[in-house]
Amino acid sequence: MSADAQKRAAAEFALKMVINGATVGLGTGSTANYFTEAAAAKVKREKLDTKFVPTSQTTYALAQKLGMNLVTIEQAPFLDATVDGCDEFDSSFRLIKGGGGALHREKIVASSSKFMITICDASKQVETLGAFPLPVEVSKYGVNATSWKIERALVHLGYKDPKMSIRVNAQGKPFITESGNPIIDIKLGKIDDAEKLDGYLNNTPGVIETGFFIGICGVVIMGTDKGVVELTRA
Ligand code: 5RP
Repeated sequence: MSADAQKRAAAEFALKMVINGATVGLGTGSTANYFTEAAAAKVKREKLDTKFVPTSQTTYALAQKLGMNLVTIEQAPFLDATVDGCDEFDSSFRLIKGGGGALHREKIVASSSKFMITICDASKQVETLGAFPLPVEVSKYGVNATSWKIERALVHLGYKDPKMSIRVNAQGKPFITESGNPIIDIKLGKIDDAEKLDGYLNNTPGVIETGFFIGICGVVIMGTDKGVVELTRA
């Protein structure tokens, strides 16, 4: 089964979160798009009264085109569930997210939900986080100053050769998130101390959001060659 088919299968499996009367967060990315499409079809088919909170303009546009009942996080600050993709997850249900640059809103919405369910293909399961560069959203003001402070913290934590890069868009200009901020991607290879590193990053002036989702996700629904696997955090 291709990665795309695995993503689609995981998205369809997560449809059980779409129930009458619920408010559900919609993630961002290709896997989340499959979920949005499948959720819209289910709501129509079963005539459900389900509200959705999109985590980005892209997801908003897709969901609106599909005629979904959309509300903002301000209108619905307590959600029943959020279903979103991830870039990596480990056996402790720690995620790296933000490959699509929506980490700030995704984290606000996911952490406001009773359940966060991540949906993914099998390539996202890792033993140790870090092969995927960790996105860190930072203030535009003082971006280089924030960058050297992060680098100093990384060296202090024992990372020998952190590769830091300010994300650029297709035009080669700095990528700016919907919250108006640049992203620094940090390639570490192996992250053994995610909680500690997250703490250091969150204490660095200028850091707005890290791509670590720790203690937020309770269920992983993963498409594999052998079918869909559902993992639940103990
Ligand atoms: C966007 C994200 C995405 O969920 C993550 O990048 C996974 O994307 P995809 O489903 O396309 O593989 O965090 O900010």
